[in-house]
Amino acid sequence: MIIEPKVKGFICITSHPKGCEKNILNNIKYLSENDKITIPEIKNVLVIGASTGYGLASAITASFALDANVIGVSFEKNAQNDRNRTATAGMYNLAAYQREANKKNLYLKNIIGDAFSNETKEKVCEIIVGDGVLDVPPTQHQICGLSGTPAPTQNGVIDMIIYSIAAPVRIDPETGERYNSVLKPIGKEYKSKGIDLTSYKLNEVTIPPATDEEIQNTVKVMGGEDLSLWVDVLTKQNLLRENAIIISYSYTGPPVTHDIYLNGSVGAAKNHLKQTSDKLNKSYKIKSYVSVNKALVTQASAAIPVMPLYISILFKTMKEKNLHENCIQQIYRLFKKIQDGENLTDENGYIRIDDLEMRDDVQREVAENWVKINDDNLEDLADLNGYKKDFMNLFGFDLDGVDYNKDVEIEVDEDSLGIVNLLK
Ligand code: NAI
Repeated sequence: MIIEPKVKGFICITSHPKGCEKNILNNIKYLSENDKITIPEIKNVLVIGASTGYGLASAITASFALDANVIGVSFEKNAQNDRNRTATAGMYNLAAYQREANKKNLYLKNIIGDAFSNETKEKVCEIIVGDGVLDVPPTQHQICGLSGTPAPTQNGVIDMIIYSIAAPVRIDPETGERYNSVLKPIGKEYKSKGIDLTSYKLNEVTIPPATDEEIQNTVKVMGGEDLSLWVDVLTKQNLLRENAIIISYSYTGPPVTHDIYLNGSVGAAKNHLKQTSDKLNKSYKIKSYVSVNKALVTQASAAIPVMPLYISILFKTMKEKNLHENCIQQIYRLFKKIQDGENLTDENGYIRIDDLEMRDDVQREVAENWVKINDDNLEDLADLNGYKKDFMNLFGFDLDGVDYNKDVEIEVDEDSLGIVNLLK
């Protein structure tokens, strides 16, 4: 099939396998051109939300810079050949990542499933125990399953969990109740300029405040409850090493984004995530951190009103100052920080890899341009082409070196790659 991009609002409903593969190869190339990461105690890494954005970059860094064994959990769809529907970009990313890992004999197990469900958690435990590659002590071979008796040994096997979920919906595994997250301000209406991702023209965004129920539901989806369940399950099964490192991701941003993010419904969820992370440190022998990352073009950030315009203005400034980083560069720097170990967190206990974004000179310029921007100077003050390219790249389009006129196979052969799909 010859695949063309079909952008609908803040998403592209088609994706290109060869373009997604090119993205993966570019990421691996970046890592191969940089020093390896050496953190001897991290051998086995579980990445929850491993198929796109920050989670994908984390998984690839763990595989190719750290040489760790990686288990990834993601929510993606394969192609439907009979309906000419391509797979999701994340599925193509995983296929390419898996192929490259297989070539290098790196242990990588990708699980397609709902990370919020008990079934997926059970499957991950089963894989950790069953695959043997992760060097599980023999006593743990019979104890998997959420209701299993805790193993008698204290030797866990997962040394690091990266929690990188961005989801619109969560079904509570105990009650079966469905919760939707919303991107809304709290306490007052939000009015701002934004950018229309179809026409790339400025528009006005008006969003009503979230109701109390919407705030609670967003916390239920994007807060820390599920992370806590993962830590709980793995600990009960003795599959989490003592002093394992747990990292979740968050965002702070400048004042122009605060009403919709930091002080909005998602910010409430991120607060809960941080509180959960702090509680986990008290309840378990682990080192749980929240890393505050830079604003980047991902499927999740494209959905947040105002972020595309803010990111376009930010990119212009950061590129001019030679400070710009993409997902893989951000995460490589995060792993370097963990490797170096010194001054890992700020005074509030956050890891900050948004330091360059938040630099005074960067934010001063961004704030000035934010006020000045209009349809006439849009191209001058914002890196619209950079945003557009990054957005199309997410779905495997607009990548250099890919022949988009060539017929391509759209279905990913999950079985031959060893991808476990629980959603089939
Ligand atoms: P993304 O949309 O690129 O990735 C989301 C990941 O979550 C995908 O791998 C997807 O498969 C997975 N996922 C969603 N629902 C799932 C489910 N039910 N079960 C299993 N996997 C599921 O998002 P992005 O931007 O990489 O976000 C990841 C984290 O980084 C989020 O916590 C976000 O708040 C944070 N972050 C993002 C920033 C940005 O600018 N993009 C900035 C700072 C933090």
